[in-house]
Amino acid sequence: LPPQPDLDLASLVRTIPDFPKRGIQFRDITTLIGDAAGFAECVRRLSALASAHRPDFIVAVEARGFLFGAAMATAMGLGLVPVRKAGKLPGVTIGVDYQLEYGVDRLELHEGAVLPGHRVVLVDDLLATGGTILATAELMRNVGAEVAAALFVIDLPDLGGSERLSAVGLHCETLIA
Ligand code: PRP
Ligand code: ADE
Repeated sequence: LPPQPDLDLASLVRTIPDFPKRGIQFRDITTLIGDAAGFAECVRRLSALASAHRPDFIVAVEARGFLFGAAMATAMGLGLVPVRKAGKLPGVTIGVDYQLEYGVDRLELHEGAVLPGHRVVLVDDLLATGGTILATAELMRNVGAEVAAALFVIDLPDLGGSERLSAVGLHCETLIA
């Protein structure tokens, strides 16, 4: 599909009120990825941002991050490293606990998937509080990899994620704010 620099990606994201609980305005990317031109343009823009950082790998966060990270990795000719919720990766893993709005969760990475000195770009669909991507960045730091940038399709600036990222020196870029 040809590049469409004028395509308005925000118009393809649907907002569903009160999901998964009352008061949450859920940004639904299924309408974006269901639109062939929109998905292609989204992956093209993310890949262009990522390429500028010359990464060795794309690191994507389960589950919605996989949709964009996998497409970017193939478009860029790079391997994809999945960061998954606890108990999903079959090999030896390194994990990190992180805070959610309610309670804690755990993210894991296969040992050896990223090595000291590797340069990576992190990808997820959406930046809210920043807890998920900060936990992913911590995993990268624990294995000695360098995080060049964190890329998102959507930022929810009211939730303060981008401030939390800048506070720890994690560079982030977003397609839709
Ligand atoms: C969502 C989203 C991000 C994260 C953002 O994932 O895909 O990963 O929340 O929130 P944060 O910035 O406050 O951490 P979710 O945990 O709902 O999992 P899913 O992708 O498996 O649906
Ligand atoms: N993850 C965290 N907050 C979200 C929201 N408002 N919409 C979609 N995914 C989210």
